[in-house]
Amino acid sequence: MDEKRIEAIGVNEQTPREIVAELDKYIIGQDEAKRSVAIALRNRWRSRQLKGAMREEVIPKNILMIGSTGVGKTEIARRLAKLVRAPFVKVEATKFTEVGYVGRDVESIVRDLAETSVRMVRQERMEAVKDKAEKLAEERILDVFVPEPKKSQSPLGRLFGGADEPEEKEEEEKPKYQAGREWVKKRLEKGELEEELIEIDVEESSRPMVGMFTGSSLENMGDNIQDMIGSIMPKHRKKRKVSVKNARKLFAQEEAAKLIDMDEVAEEAVRVAEYSGIVFLDEIDKVAVKNGSSGADVSREGVQRDILPIVEGSQVSTKYGPVKTDHILFIAAGAFHMAKPSDLIPELQGRFPIRVELKSLRKEDFERILKEPENALIKQYEALLATEGVELTFEQSAISRLAELAEGVNTDAEDIGARRLHTLLEKLLEEISFSAPDLEEKKVTIDAKYVDERLSDIVASRDLSQFIL
Ligand SMILES: Nc1ncnc2c1ncn2[C@@H]1O[C@H](COP(=O)(O)OP(=O)(O)OP(=O)(O)O)[C@@H](O)[C@H]1O
Ligand SMILES: [Mg+2]
Repeated sequence: MDEKRIEAIGVNEQTPREIVAELDKYIIGQDEAKRSVAIALRNRWRSRQLKGAMREEVIPKNILMIGSTGVGKTEIARRLAKLVRAPFVKVEATKFTEVGYVGRDVESIVRDLAETSVRMVRQERMEAVKDKAEKLAEERILDVFVPEPKKSQSPLGRLFGGADEPEEKEEEEKPKYQAGREWVKKRLEKGELEEELIEIDVEESSRPMVGMFTGSSLENMGDNIQDMIGSIMPKHRKKRKVSVKNARKLFAQEEAAKLIDMDEVAEEAVRVAEYSGIVFLDEIDKVAVKNGSSGADVSREGVQRDILPIVEGSQVSTKYGPVKTDHILFIAAGAFHMAKPSDLIPELQGRFPIRVELKSLRKEDFERILKEPENALIKQYEALLATEGVELTFEQSAISRLAELAEGVNTDAEDIGARRLHTLLEKLLEEISFSAPDLEEKKVTIDAKYVDERLSDIVASRDLSQFIL
């Protein structure tokens, strides 16, 4: 196993500036949080350049993101997940329960990470043998169109022509067979047969026990049993009629899978998970316990105690082998409305040395969130209504007014951050959404006046806005 590969798959080559620029496409503001995750990612790359003992010594500095609800914590995680070339899992701390109770046990985080890692490494290796697999797939398609002469011999031929002169028969068939193949090959190359239906044999991936044990600490065992059964039972093959185009894909997958060595993949995947894995622990505040409380809180503290060894560095057994957690990067996030970071058990606090605060969002942020991100809300609504032929345009005045209202309601009622924009916009466009198919005038322009007409009353009345917005 060579080091090069690990570098290729586990580490992002982007500079912190480039990572931030990527996050900027989706998240407005929150520069501090973006910078620290970017630095953390770059540190992964840096430690990969180190050698030997030093490399083992440098363990990642975990990050704790703190910010009230709806300011972009989870969104940063989601975008990060798409960006990193390393195994990444995102879990809610609230999903877990103390060992022995119903719910997922925390070790499943590491098992998921290993699973993700295997998928990535496998994908990469399949990519590497892609050309070869595609060639083999093409051959198999040719086999379907022009089977080898021996097999194609008609039953009658076998009866009469039969046993005493097989050699000659084959010699006779050969040129024909070759010519046939050449001819089909040409047509395949020209793409003339793509939609042709052919009958092929495909492997059925039968996983009989999926889901039986999930959600309990038996999970791991379930996996193992499943694998055992999988390897005892013969692989099901099934005849299917598919187009040449799809057959090529299916064959190429099968051939690629045959070309890679799963043991090697597992071995490498474990290393990648150990040195490059990133775990995002969302809603960590929900398992923090305020001093002096009792009852259900005991179990929450238990969850923290269970998380601790994983964050601190321990070994978790997975079906791909034991995974050491020392070098996994943990990013935790929480609103910390009720509890404070200091309500976490001290050992855990100490394992998250980097604290970043996400700012509460203001009018200017809302304005930008409405229109700038690549998936900006306004762009989404425009696209949705365009499917009805409605051409929706927002005037700057409308956007500005909406942002103002959002800030207002967030201040008066509860600060739910950018989520407020979702409720406001939905309410604003309700009428248009409803009548879009029947509209005569397909050009609709939303201006400040329209925003006021639809929303002002609701916003003005505190009672109403608490329910509706
Ligand atoms: N700074 C931001 N820029 C762009 N969109 C944002 C921003 N903050 C929040 N949003 C949007 O608001 C919604 C909620 O954000 P997100 O899920 O990140 O909240 P959160 O901080 O995780 O809150 P919670 O503590 O409730 O989990 C998402 O749709 C997200 O796209
Ligand atoms: Mg969240």
